[in-house]
Amino acid sequence: MPFVAYDRPVRAAFIGLGRIYDLNVRGYVGNGDVEVVALVDPDEQRRAQRQADWPAARTFASAAELADSDVQVDAVEALLPVQLHADIVAEMLGYGWHVNLQKPMCSDLLDAQRMLDAAKANDRVLRVMENYLFYQPLIRLKETVESGAVGNVVGYHIKTVGSTYGGWDVPLSSWLWQWEQMKRGRGILVFDDGWHKLATAIWLFGPIKEVRAWIGSTHVGPDVELDVPTVISWEHASGVRGVWDINVAIDMYLRSDYYTNDERWEVTGQRGFARVNRCTGRGIQQPSLEVYADGEMRGYHALDDDWASSFRDSGKHWLRWLRRGEGPLLWSGHEAVDVLRFALAAYASSAAGGVGVNPAQLT
Ligand SMILES: NC(=O)c1ccc[n+]([C@@H]2O[C@H](COP(=O)([O-])OP(=O)(O)OC[C@H]3O[C@@H](n4cnc5c(N)ncnc54)[C@H](O)[C@@H]3O)[C@@H](O)[C@H]2O)c1
Repeated sequence: MPFVAYDRPVRAAFIGLGRIYDLNVRGYVGNGDVEVVALVDPDEQRRAQRQADWPAARTFASAAELADSDVQVDAVEALLPVQLHADIVAEMLGYGWHVNLQKPMCSDLLDAQRMLDAAKANDRVLRVMENYLFYQPLIRLKETVESGAVGNVVGYHIKTVGSTYGGWDVPLSSWLWQWEQMKRGRGILVFDDGWHKLATAIWLFGPIKEVRAWIGSTHVGPDVELDVPTVISWEHASGVRGVWDINVAIDMYLRSDYYTNDERWEVTGQRGFARVNRCTGRGIQQPSLEVYADGEMRGYHALDDDWASSFRDSGKHWLRWLRRGEGPLLWSGHEAVDVLRFALAAYASSAAGGVGVNPAQLT
C-alpha cells in the first residue's frame, strides 16, 4: 500500500497477552508514536494482569469483540499461537488494521499466501517482526563484515544449543501449542526458534539458492520429540555457504533472563573472523561480539546485548515506520515468505535424504 503518515500517535491493540508480551511491550512503553487502546485475550486473568500496564486501554476476549466495539484501532501487535496466525491475521486485516505479527509467520505456503492476499485486498500492511535483526551485536557483526574488516567472506557458522535449566518461567499453556506444532513436523528448534537463525542468514548474505538438511528427532518426554540433532547447510546466490548445527544439552544449566538458548554466529573471512558469542542467554560471558583480524582480537564490551532490547527496537521501528515511513519494514510479509521457504526447503531436503533443494522452487 502507498505510505500514509499518521499525524497523531498510532492507536494500537495487543492481540495475545502471553509470555512474549513481556518483551514485545517494551517497544510501546513510553513511546510517543503510539497509544495503546485495547488488550485482547480470551484468558481473563491475563487481561487483568496486563491491564495494570495500560489502565486506559479497554479489554476484550477476542479480536471480533474489539472490532464490534467503538474503540478505533490502526494497528495490532499479534502475539498468538502459530496455529492461529493465518485465520486471525486475515480476519484482522479485514477489519482494516495493520498487523505486526510474531514469527513464525505460519507453517505452510498456502497460509502465507492467504495472509498476503488479505493484506493486499484490504490495503493494509502485514509485517512479520524479526527482533534478531535489531540485536545490536548482530547489527555490528553485519557492519563489520560489510566493512571488509575480516576480508572477503569464505563461509559462516551458526550454532544453537537448547537447554532446560535456567531462564524465565514459561507457562505450560505456552508449551502446549508448541507440542502440537512439533507433532505437525514444525519443531521448536528448527522451525520456531530456528526461524530467527534462517532470517539472520538471509539478512546477512541475501537470497538462498540451495539447502541441504539432516533433521533429527530426540524423544524427551511423553509425546514430545525435539527436532535435534540437526545440521542444515545452504548456499546463498552470492556463493557464500552457511552451516547451522542444533543440539539440546538436556542437563546443561544456562544463565538467562529469558529462554535457555546458547547461540553463536561466526563469519569467517580471508583475513579473520567476527563472532557473536551469545544472544538470548548468557552462555559465553566474554564480549558479545569479537573480531579477529591480522593477529589482533577486538572485543566489543559496550554493546546493548540484552536480548530484550531487540524487541524494544523492533517494536519502535514498526511504530516509527507507520508514522513516518522510515526504513525497510524488517520484514515485510513477502520477505517473511522467503524465510518460510528456507525452512520448508530444509524439511524437503531432509525428507529426501539431504539432497539440495532450491527454496524458490517449492510449491
Ligand atoms: N521473537 C521471539 O523470539 C519469540 C519468542 C517467543 C515466542 N514468540 C512467538 O510469539 C507468539 C506467541 O508466543 P507466546 O510464547 O507468547 O505464547 P503464549 O501461549 O504464552 O501466549 C499466547 C496468548 O494468546 C492468547 N490467545 C489464544 N487464542 C487467542 C485469540 N483467538 N485471540 C487473542 N488471544 C488469544 C492466549 O490466551 C495466550 O495468552 C508465537 O508466534 C511465538 O512463536 C516469539
